[in-house]
Amino acid sequence: MHLSIFLPIALVVWWSSTTFVEYIARPAYPVPAPGSAILITGARSGIGLSAAKRLSKEGFFVFASTRTAQAAEAISAMHISNMVGVKLDLLSEEDMVQVEQMIRQWCAKTGNRFAGVVHNGIAIGKSGFVELTRLEEAKTFHASGLEAVRLLTQKLLPLIRAHHGRVVGISSFAQLVPMPGGSAYSETKAALAMFLNCLRLELYPAGCAVVNIAPGAISTGLMTETHVRKWFDEIYSPPALNEAYPFYAAKAKESVDKMITTTTFAWQTTDKGSTDDLILEAFSSPRPPFTVFPGSFGIPAKLLAQVLSYLPESVVFRLLTEM
Ligand SMILES: NC(=O)c1ccc[n+]([C@@H]2O[C@H](COP(=O)([O-])OP(=O)(O)OC[C@H]3O[C@@H](n4cnc5c(N)ncnc54)[C@H](OP(=O)(O)O)[C@@H]3O)[C@@H](O)[C@H]2O)c1
Repeated sequence: MHLSIFLPIALVVWWSSTTFVEYIARPAYPVPAPGSAILITGARSGIGLSAAKRLSKEGFFVFASTRTAQAAEAISAMHISNMVGVKLDLLSEEDMVQVEQMIRQWCAKTGNRFAGVVHNGIAIGKSGFVELTRLEEAKTFHASGLEAVRLLTQKLLPLIRAHHGRVVGISSFAQLVPMPGGSAYSETKAALAMFLNCLRLELYPAGCAVVNIAPGAISTGLMTETHVRKWFDEIYSPPALNEAYPFYAAKAKESVDKMITTTTFAWQTTDKGSTDDLILEAFSSPRPPFTVFPGSFGIPAKLLAQVLSYLPESVVFRLLTEM
C-alpha cells in the first residue's frame, strides 16, 4: 500500500483504538443527582464564570466563588437561577471554613447533596527566569494554585466522601510543556496534576471521581493580547536578562511578536464551550475522564498532548529551543 494512504489509515486506527481502550478502562462512579451543589473557585470571569452559568443551566446549584464580597454580590446580582456568588479568597483559610459551613447548611436545608468542587481560580504572580525571580513572586502561584487547592480539598473531603462527590482541577497545558521564564506557573500546574492523580487513587474506594482539565489556550481575561504581552514583557524585558541570558534576550522580541501574531488570533477563536462541556461531563458522566485537554494551539491541544507524549524528550527540547 502507498505510504500516503497507509499513514492516515494507521493514524486513525491508532487514535480510535487508544481512545476506545482509554474509555473502557475508566472506572464507573456514582453520578451526582440533579440539584446537587457545586463550588467553583475563581468564578468571577473566564472559564469559571462560563462553567458556573452552564452547570446552573443544567440543574446543578452553583456556589460561584470570587475573591471579594463586592464581586460575590455582583455575581448574585446577575440573578441567574441556581447560582449564587460567594466570597472565597484562596489565600484565606477563614473564608474556606465559612464556605464549607455554608455548603453544609445548604445541604441540610434543601436535602440536596454536594456534587463537589472545581478548583479553577489562581492568582497570577510575576513570571520570570529562575535566577531573576524573587521567591515571593513565585510563591503567589504556588499559594493560590496548589496550597489553596490542597487546603480547600481537605476541608471539603468529609462532605465529598459522604455524598460521593467529585473533585475537578483546572490545570493547564503548561503542565506538559516547559517554557523559559515560565517555571512558576508550569511547576504549579504540574504539581496540581500530580496532586489530582494521587487524590484519584485515594478517593476511588469512596466512589469519588477526580478529573484534571488541562486547557490549551482559551480566550479569557487571562488570555488577551494585552495580558500575554504584559506577561512576556515581565519575563523578557529585565535588563539583567540581556547580560545573563543573551540567547533568549536576543530572540525575545521576535518570538513574542511571532507568537502573538501567529497564535493569539487562533487562540481568540477557540470556543470556551469545550471547557464547559468537559466540566459538565466531569460531574455527569458515570465514567468521567482522568485528564483532558480542551483548547487549541492551531491544532487541537488533545492531539498535541498525545504527539508530545510519544516524542523523545530531547526532540521536544530541540523544538522548544528553536521556537
Ligand atoms: N485561559 C487559558 O488559556 C488557560 C489555559 C490554561 C489554564 N487556564 C487556567 O484556567 C483557570 C481560569 O483562568 P481564566 O483563563 O478563566 O482566567 P481569569 O478569567 O482571569 O480567571 C481567573 C480567576 O481566578 C480568580 N482569582 C485570582 N486570585 C484569586 C484568589 N486569591 N482567590 C480566589 N480567586 C482568585 C479570579 O477571581 P477574581 O476576579 O475575584 O480576582 C478569576 O475569577 C486558571 O486556573 C488558569 O490557570 C487558563
